[in-house]
Amino acid sequence: MTFLDLTGQQSTDIRTKISGNISEHTFTVRSGEECLLDLPRFSGVSPKTVQVYAGIDAGSTQTRGAFVDLDYLNSLQELNSYDELFGTTYVVPSLFKDIPDNRSIPTKGAELWANMDSYISFDGSGTKFTRVTRGQKAIDVSLSNSKLMNSVAKVDNDSLYLNICDALGYGILQKYVTIPATVDLWISSSLPPEDFNDHGKNTFRGKMRSFKWKHLDYGITIQFKIRELYTFTEPEANVKGYYTVEREELPEEVLHIEGGGRNVSHEILHGGNSLSLACDSSMDAGSLLLDTLGQRYSEKRRSKVPSMDNLERSLIIGKLKQGAEWEDITDVIKESKDIVADQIFNNVMDKAFQRQHIVQPETLDVITFGGKLFDCGDYDYSITKRLMNRFSTVAPKTKFKRFTKNYIPWGLVLLMMGEQE
Ligand SMILES: Nc1ncnc2c1ncn2[C@@H]1O[C@H](COP(=O)(O)OP(=O)(O)OP(=O)(O)O)[C@@H](O)[C@H]1O
Ligand SMILES: [Mg+2]
Repeated sequence: MTFLDLTGQQSTDIRTKISGNISEHTFTVRSGEECLLDLPRFSGVSPKTVQVYAGIDAGSTQTRGAFVDLDYLNSLQELNSYDELFGTTYVVPSLFKDIPDNRSIPTKGAELWANMDSYISFDGSGTKFTRVTRGQKAIDVSLSNSKLMNSVAKVDNDSLYLNICDALGYGILQKYVTIPATVDLWISSSLPPEDFNDHGKNTFRGKMRSFKWKHLDYGITIQFKIRELYTFTEPEANVKGYYTVEREELPEEVLHIEGGGRNVSHEILHGGNSLSLACDSSMDAGSLLLDTLGQRYSEKRRSKVPSMDNLERSLIIGKLKQGAEWEDITDVIKESKDIVADQIFNNVMDKAFQRQHIVQPETLDVITFGGKLFDCGDYDYSITKRLMNRFSTVAPKTKFKRFTKNYIPWGLVLLMMGEQE
């Protein structure tokens, strides 16, 4: 990563420079990122300080942030709905390119997606910055992508911290009409179970420090001051978020499986407490599904392995782009999903129930599923279909629930508020 010295650099107002049109996008945003296609709504900056609770789910494909302004929270007479408390969950793509210099990257539109070019500094004197582009600018610049690599623990990966900083920066940029100069932050962040140990938590605390966030084109500088930092596992945040927000009673024995791009994590909650010996993650996740799909496709159709972008889109629409035509590949997708489902089943059975004997499959009230790996796609087939079949052989009286939205960011804020009481 290269550090840039911004001393003396002038900021320019983007609104005098931009031109272009949304239809020029070469890549559509992923679901959840739609608000990046809006125009920035801020009207100015102010020297004021705001105090914010932030719940951050830093996934390998997207980083999602929920924000609660403390003045707003304190002004509430009663809580009518969690939608009202949290409002929008702001999402940035986790894939970025860090730019080693101050080159100019032309803007292709007025929307935020076309203008994601920020400078992040953890350096107290605020002179050493890392320049980070996402969205259209990351597509346009010819450098290689940075992402949360599977081979490195999430907490050891510097990309994680840049993703969190940008989720906070762009989140505040979209939440406030007048952008504050300083944000006092209470952060609650999720970690995969494999990082949820003393080493992982200490590493996270050491690296996730107060920072300065600049958007030069918008003329914005925000100082983020971290007041407190909390961590929870992704499964716990999703399950407790779901049961709180949907106002359902948390059952006595819950097994949650979270399927993302990088990890499949599982955790058992017994009377609301996590059984640490039944909490783990594996790599049988989206990247394995995409690899399996590519291999199966190439074997069955005797052709080369399609690109990852093409395969990823096919998981959503069931079709692979072949020149000007679309090939229906739902047969290969279903086979690949079944292969990954069997691996997840074997792995969870092995790791969740062999190391502890307090909760066994047949006594579980419910198995819950979260994460996009378990989505159906337009062809209406999901990994959970096979997983439910497999689990019902060992847990015939257990119910199943697939979360249709991500409760992690809201769950994180709620868990943090619970710890503060
Ligand atoms: N319809 C679908 N069927 C199966 N997989 C899908 C579908 N849609 C998206 N995916 C896959 O889901 C993965 C992304 O899931 P999700 O957004 O939950 O992960 P994440 O939270 O960003 O990552 P992680 O938590 O593992 O770090 C990607 O690998 C993507 O290809
Ligand atoms: Mg995730």
